[in-house]
Amino acid sequence: MTKLNILITGGAGFIGSHTADALIKNGHRVRLLDNLQQTVHPKGRPDYLNPAAEFMPGDVREKADWLKALAGMDAVYHLAAYQDYLTDFSSFFHTNAVSTALLYEVLVETGQYRHIRKVIVAASQAVMGEGRYHCPACDPDAAALFYPQIRPESQLAQGRWEHTCPTCDQDLRWLPSDETVINPCNQYALSKHSQEQITLQLGRRYDIPSVAMRYSIVQGPRQSFYNAYSGAMRIFALAQFFKKPPTLFEDGRQIRDFVNIKDVVAANLLVLEHPDADFQVFNVGGGQAWTVQAFYDTMQTMTGRQIEPIISGYYRFGDTRHIFSDTTRLQTLGWRATRSVETSIEDYWAYLNRQQDMEDILAYAEKHMQQLNVIRKAGDSP
Ligand code: UD1
Repeated sequence: MTKLNILITGGAGFIGSHTADALIKNGHRVRLLDNLQQTVHPKGRPDYLNPAAEFMPGDVREKADWLKALAGMDAVYHLAAYQDYLTDFSSFFHTNAVSTALLYEVLVETGQYRHIRKVIVAASQAVMGEGRYHCPACDPDAAALFYPQIRPESQLAQGRWEHTCPTCDQDLRWLPSDETVINPCNQYALSKHSQEQITLQLGRRYDIPSVAMRYSIVQGPRQSFYNAYSGAMRIFALAQFFKKPPTLFEDGRQIRDFVNIKDVVAANLLVLEHPDADFQVFNVGGGQAWTVQAFYDTMQTMTGRQIEPIISGYYRFGDTRHIFSDTTRLQTLGWRATRSVETSIEDYWAYLNRQQDMEDILAYAEKHMQQLNVIRKAGDSP
């Protein structure tokens, strides 16, 4: 492929910086736009940034910054995102959705849309919400599908974790969700769904080759340790590091889909070059369903530290019960998830062990979450 000038928003972040490294390795010129958001980058510009990339401080909510950043670019990865469990609902839309509208606005107003080669945005598995289910008792052949809403507080407070069949009240069984599933259940998912729609519709309207990537839980080095809404990998690894028991929410049997950063980067590069990717949404998942408990157990085995987790009915209000992505669509373009969760744990553990000044980060994350009343306990009054 010809060498391109490529803009990556959120280029100082986890997915952005790894994507930048791979693009530079392939001979492309890369510009990183990032506002170094305090909660993610409290120590400023991270030292892992590729020196061959051009760093441009800026904010995707600002049209003037888009105008500067897009100048001379042939392709864009819009990966800057706001991701949290906080209640500042509008922030999600400003950073994730309005920014995407601004991107297309600038491309159209400047006439750059006529020659831009590709726009790729970071959507999310969260767009599919609780995903797809069936009732094994009433409908063993999965002829009738369910797309449940989030579980009500009254149910979770009783420690009843599973979605149940409205006919027979038995537990529903999860099924893999493909890209046709759209059930955004929280502010983050709603903003990501809006972003997807803006990308596909404005892309088609102005014939700008555009692609939306629904990443599941991406794992690997460089994930910020400084985040009130810390993911399971960070929390569990930090717990292991400090030899403190982590809390597995609910009963630990919820299903999650973990994908390695290198597989995500491979997917990002593939859709840049593949014309059949245009105007499509793709699930980017790990291909293997994990319970949270199995994930933690594997981490214990790999670190060699046996620390009994707390499983006492704590839960995160608004959490999805089970979600697993069907990645058939991306596989038809030739992509496959090839790295195991064990590899992700190994890489992350090594990364963590290279860090300094980690002492109070885990405590900070947990304290912050409880203050926000996002973590609750079954049996407590809501
Ligand atoms: C993750 C992503 C989100 C993405 C979504 C797609 C992160 C931080 N979040 O959300 O960006 O859009 O997948 O599906 O990467 N858990 C515990 N104990 C803890 C922390 C987590 O048991 O201390 C459990 C959670 O309840 C959940 C699972 O681990 O069942 C994964 O949690 P987390 O890593 O925070 O990711 P998601 O919320 O699923």
